[in-house]
Amino acid sequence: MKIKITWLVILVNSALTSSLFIPTQLPEDATLNYTQLGVKYGHKVEEHTVVTEDGYILTLFRMPGKRKTPVFLMHGSGDSSDAYMLRGNKSMAISLANEGYDVWAGNGRGNYYSRRHVKLDPDTDPSFWDYSFHERGYYDLPAIIDYILEATGEKSLQSIAHSQGTMNFFVLLSSKPEYNDKLKVFIAMAPIAYLHNLIPPVSIIGEIGPFINQLIPSSVHRILDIKGFERSVIELVCTQEGISDLFCVTLGVLPASGFDPKRLESSFLPILFSHYPAAISRKNLLHHNQLISNKRFMHYDYGPKENMKRYGFAVPPEYNLRKVTAKIAIFFGNNDNLSRPRDVEYLRTLLPNVVEYHLMKEKEWSHIDFIYGNDMPETLFPYIFQVLEKYS
Ligand SMILES: *[C@@H]1O[C@H](CO)[C@@H](O)[C@H](O)[C@H]1NC(C)=O
Ligand SMILES: *[C@@H]1O[C@H](CO)[C@@H](O)[C@H](O)[C@H]1NC(C)=O
Ligand SMILES: *[C@@H]1O[C@H](CO)[C@@H](O)[C@H](O)[C@H]1NC(C)=O
Repeated sequence: MKIKITWLVILVNSALTSSLFIPTQLPEDATLNYTQLGVKYGHKVEEHTVVTEDGYILTLFRMPGKRKTPVFLMHGSGDSSDAYMLRGNKSMAISLANEGYDVWAGNGRGNYYSRRHVKLDPDTDPSFWDYSFHERGYYDLPAIIDYILEATGEKSLQSIAHSQGTMNFFVLLSSKPEYNDKLKVFIAMAPIAYLHNLIPPVSIIGEIGPFINQLIPSSVHRILDIKGFERSVIELVCTQEGISDLFCVTLGVLPASGFDPKRLESSFLPILFSHYPAAISRKNLLHHNQLISNKRFMHYDYGPKENMKRYGFAVPPEYNLRKVTAKIAIFFGNNDNLSRPRDVEYLRTLLPNVVEYHLMKEKEWSHIDFIYGNDMPETLFPYIFQVLEKYS
């Protein structure tokens, strides 16, 4: 018996230390944070902190530039400011900085850069995680925007958001319409408000979501948190070139958002998965689930009694997109299985001020190609620069 256990230990040990699991060395960029990456790729980076009205302490990064109008970048769900930086010289943040823009990158509450609060402890207070995309839009964005305008002395800025970051903006601009005037233009990449036309497997996740929710212990308030077990497993497995392709991309990312192998080469995966994904609150998942099953872009559903108390209606109200009067430039892709072209088209009909409507020419362009595609400098950025120039 003793011998058997010893063998098991040796086996497990050697599996863990074999080349399969421990890479000879992670690429340098896998180990660097936003600030360090910005410096490596040639720019000065400032770290700012913003405190929201409800006490969350957020990290905001700035790469100062010669141009006056600030450009504010907001990431999507389960992501961070690093989304705009991980491609280094081919990233949105560095490319904008190279063009002389004053580049600000935000971090929504809960991710590893914004895991702080004036009173609540993310490790011990469940109420720290009591938020969805709504609070990131309603509290985080206005705090960040006002901070940037105050710091630069400007009256308005330009903004770019990806995926759930666009939902945050739609929440803000419909709930606090005065913020429309603070945006010269809002570039919405792979925008999401309506999830009516999802297809399997994502649509199935939408349907069985409430069931899965029942299975997960009520003590679980977030997933993929920097201190979470599942996050460490992803980091261990997915930063291994060779096995990452199959397990993390083909079985993980592809069914969810779609990806295009040409634009997401293996050597980039260790860099990607050492920064992504970042924490997602349980309430955020539930809120998304509600949108999918109700086919409405609406406030969180607390149940009739609590809804009555909070909203004055038994059914949660919809966000009124008619109030989103800022100039909006929409960028979307044909092969995007989260922000589906038909849903984007529907969104367009409801937004009163869509000034640009850009379907990516590349037929296989998918959800994550807007932040991680390796050919963004040729396929995406020229159009982004054009829009920023036109609405400056
Ligand atoms: C980035 O890393 C540097 C070096 O470890 C550290 O000093 C800095 O605080 C980090 N920045 C953030 C925002 O975590
Ligand atoms: C990034 O691009 C600049 C300008 O082309 C170049 O000088 C620099 O070496 C590149 N940096 C890295 C780390 O590749
Ligand atoms: C998106 O879904 C369609 C239909 O299932 C599928 O053919 C396509 O490969 C998916 N796209 C990606 C990038 O996974």
